[in-house]
Amino acid sequence: MDRRSFIRNSIIAAGTIVGGAILSKSVLPSLSKEKGKMKILVITGSPRKNGNSNTLADNFIKGAKEKGHNIVRFDSAFKNVHPCVACNKCGMDGDCVFNDDFNYIKENIVDSDMVVFATPMYYFGISAQLKAVIDRFYSINGKIHTTKKAALILTYADTSKKEAEPIKTHYEVLLNYLSWQDAGQIIASGVWTEGSVNNTVYPKQAYELGKSL
Ligand SMILES: Cc1cc2nc3c(=O)[nH]c(=O)nc-3n(C[C@H](O)[C@H](O)[C@H](O)COP(=O)(O)O)c2cc1C
Repeated sequence: MDRRSFIRNSIIAAGTIVGGAILSKSVLPSLSKEKGKMKILVITGSPRKNGNSNTLADNFIKGAKEKGHNIVRFDSAFKNVHPCVACNKCGMDGDCVFNDDFNYIKENIVDSDMVVFATPMYYFGISAQLKAVIDRFYSINGKIHTTKKAALILTYADTSKKEAEPIKTHYEVLLNYLSWQDAGQIIASGVWTEGSVNNTVYPKQAYELGKSL
C-alpha cells in the first residue's frame, strides 16, 4: 500500500461519510461522559519506575485528577507489547497476530479524549518501549483518527534544545496525521540521573498542565 492509500484507507475507516462529510465516531462516546470530564490515557516509556518521565507523568496525573478527569495509565516498559512485524494481517483495522498487553491500549484509546506520551530520550528518539506501542497503532489505525487532545512529556540529559526537535517533530507529525490536537508539551532537559527532575521546575509544569485541562 502506498502512502496515499495508507491515508485514504485510514480516513475512510475512521468515520462515516454522509453527504461528503466525514462524521467522527469519537463524537458518540463523548456524549455519555460527564460534561467537561475527560478520559485520559497516559502511556509512559521509561523502564525506570521512579525515573524522570514517570515523575512528570505522576505530576500531570495528580493535576488532571484534581480536575476530576479519569486517568488510565499504561507503563509500556513493564508490559508485554511485541513490536509490529508488518504482516498486515490486521489490515490496519483488525485483529493483530499478537495477543498481548496492547489489548489494554486497544480497549482504552478509542473512547479516550486525550492521550499523553511520556518518554525519556534514547539516542535522540523516543524509547523503544513507547515506540513499540505507537507502531501497534497500525492495527487500530481505522479507529483512532478521531477528535482527541494529546500531550508530550520528554526528559533528557543534555541541555541543547535542538536535540529535542526530532522527538517534538515526530509527535507533531503523528498528531497531524491522526487529527489530534496538542494540549501541551513538557520538554525537560538537563535531567540525567533518576530523581534529578525533582530539583527542577518541570514537575510543577506537568502538574499545572494536568490541572489546566
Ligand atoms: C539508552 C539511553 C540513551 C540515552 N540517550 C540520550 C540522548 O540521546 N540524549 C540525552 O540528552 N540523554 C540521553 N539519555 C539520558 C536520558 O534521556 C535521561 O537520563 C532521562 O532523564 C531518562 O528519563 P527517565 O528517568 O524517565 O528514564 C539516554 C539514556 C539511556 C539509558
